[in-house]
Amino acid sequence: MNLRSALAYALAPALFAAGLSAQAATPKPIDDVDARAAALVQQLTADERLSLLHGPMAVTMAGIIAPRDAIPGAGHIAGIPRLGIPNLAETDASLGVAWALGQRKDGATALPSGLAMASTWNPALLREGGAMIAREAHSKGFNVLLAGGVNLVREPRGGRTFEYLGEDPLLSGTLAGAAIAGIQSEHVISTVKHFALNAQETGRNHHDARIAESAARESDLLAFQLAIEQGQPGSVMCAYNRVNGVYACRNDFLLNRVLKQDWRYKGWVMSDWGATHGVEYALSGLDQQSGEQIDKAVHFLAPLREKAAQEPRYAARIEDMNRRILRSLLAVGVDRYPPTLRPIDFTTNATVSEHLARNGIVLLRNEGKALPLDAARIQHIAVIGGEADTGVPAGGGSSHVQGEAGPALSRPLGGGNPMGEFFGEHFHRSVPLKALAARAPKVKFAYRDGRHVEDAVLAAKQADVAIVFATQLTTEGLDVPGLSLPDGQDALIAAVAAANPRTIVVLETGGPVQMPWLTQTAAVIEAWYPGARGAEAITAILFGDANPSGRLPLSFPSSVSQLPRPVLPGTEAQDPDFRDDPASWQGFQIDYDIEGSDIGYRWHARRGQQPLFWFGHGLSYTSFETSGLTVLPGAPLRVEATVRNTGDRAGEELVQLYLQSLPGDSPARGATRRLIAYERLDLAPGESRRIRLTVDPRLMANWSDGGWQQVAGRYRIALGRSAGELHDSVDITLPARRWAD
Ligand code: BGC
Repeated sequence: MNLRSALAYALAPALFAAGLSAQAATPKPIDDVDARAAALVQQLTADERLSLLHGPMAVTMAGIIAPRDAIPGAGHIAGIPRLGIPNLAETDASLGVAWALGQRKDGATALPSGLAMASTWNPALLREGGAMIAREAHSKGFNVLLAGGVNLVREPRGGRTFEYLGEDPLLSGTLAGAAIAGIQSEHVISTVKHFALNAQETGRNHHDARIAESAARESDLLAFQLAIEQGQPGSVMCAYNRVNGVYACRNDFLLNRVLKQDWRYKGWVMSDWGATHGVEYALSGLDQQSGEQIDKAVHFLAPLREKAAQEPRYAARIEDMNRRILRSLLAVGVDRYPPTLRPIDFTTNATVSEHLARNGIVLLRNEGKALPLDAARIQHIAVIGGEADTGVPAGGGSSHVQGEAGPALSRPLGGGNPMGEFFGEHFHRSVPLKALAARAPKVKFAYRDGRHVEDAVLAAKQADVAIVFATQLTTEGLDVPGLSLPDGQDALIAAVAAANPRTIVVLETGGPVQMPWLTQTAAVIEAWYPGARGAEAITAILFGDANPSGRLPLSFPSSVSQLPRPVLPGTEAQDPDFRDDPASWQGFQIDYDIEGSDIGYRWHARRGQQPLFWFGHGLSYTSFETSGLTVLPGAPLRVEATVRNTGDRAGEELVQLYLQSLPGDSPARGATRRLIAYERLDLAPGESRRIRLTVDPRLMANWSDGGWQQVAGRYRIALGRSAGELHDSVDITLPARRWAD
């Protein structure tokens, strides 16, 4: 041991203690966090060693009482004051400091939904958003943000689709990694969740996701792997469901083998809230029991103590569990930069959210340049539906964020279910009608709520342009039954479009929807749940103050018949009450081997299906041409291409590179399609630039016999305007290669 690490050993507790009182103690080197964490563990008493391993929900509701010193939020883990180890104050989630199921009224800045942010395909923006919400968390006393949702959208009807980052492992993994890095740059620990294959809410506590290892490694696990490599999250949250018969939080394969052994993950695994069903979970790799009041017992306290007294492997695990938690605290600097209560500049933070929303809005259709609107040439606009006179919608559940003045409108699901109060439809106080009117003060706006189709049609007929806002409630706890817009909105849009050819539809949905009226409309934008200043972002796109640059992070199937599972698994067994007795859970299996690693667009390509909109689709007010795809010599695979803005206004283009075929492809299996690299760039009119893309070798390989395998032979790669419109392909020959991770 050298002097420096010896000193760090000796000083570790003092540093923690100093961190508690001094605002910003002199930053200490963190390159020896492993040694410092190990040394700290040696100073813990047997009881203290159990303290960091479990904790309650930090809310008082439905028979649950939060600890007195807890900050209202998702969870609380008691620290060890004697050694200066702080409490862990945990808050949800990826979209901002959440409302703690109604317990927090102090307001926070809501980012747009995960899908909206993913539509930016811009890691730098996600990093900025992560840093902003972490600063807010830190200013409210939190040092752990339960952000980093990276489950791939295998089920577009999933209630939490809005929280996640789409259907592709490269896009989701790199964006989640960037968001996590942003969060942790503010000395707030981020999680990555829900590990793994937690793709639907129906039966989420007990369904069994069945999938071959190779398919999981190439898809859902790869998304986590990339997010962990790039974001280095302090913790991983294991999921509620089972994977191949075993609960994710006691899944030795997922936690010990893949995460800790193969990926050499050094942080800790926390359970999802109420997902620890026994003390033996500790041996399978779970390090911390979260939300312990909703488990049957505090398994990681007395039962763990008893086990440790009898079995050395439990005692060894306890040491490892503590070391992992402390290591993450030190690595992220939670000790040196403790959270302090301070005021938040909501105005500045809202601009971060608005910037993400503007970049995440996707222009799906624009016939005859119906958009952008020219305020000088329009006298009268009818605004119809979607509560556009009230606010913009947000997703429900634990990730929901409420602004300073609370929601503009809330419709809890209710229904006598204790959780029903908390899962519902909410609207942020960012009002489309107001934002539009402020942007075009000379235009006359007529608003109709859309409940009466005749009334809406009349208003549309009298106007130069009709803008219909369409919303879709999605919430944690409940999947949507299909891909249609609810509440008769399809009929409303069709009727309005029939009455006014200049009908523009603004979708504010949690996930993909069908559009039976599509060809009748002049333009459609997908604004998702656009966050704290969503209305302003939508207005900027409609009037051309921002050039749309969002691209779909998931495909829009043309109907559920295109999905690998046209009927949502477990529909008949659905019980959205998460607090029911595990003994009553009727497990059911979901066969993810149907599509394997070919999720979304990859499935559509393999089946020769034409979805309504492909992954990667999105229009702009300018036009681009990408050409000259050239492969550079050497490994890893690097390519160059030239991108040119051929239109008359500045804009951002997304270069998408796909794998189109690989050795071993067969007509029986269907076409190959994989995103292997992407890059955005901003170009002035007429400007052209040569860009270089580097391909992660895992994306060219398959997982086979315990490792990545690149088969020798010919591979075809191609540029794509979307996953369904490839152009400019090049064939390359790669040698055989195998590697472990
Ligand atoms: C959700 C997690 C969340 C946790 C704490 C769970 O119900 O699945 O995403 O972080 O609650 O609120």
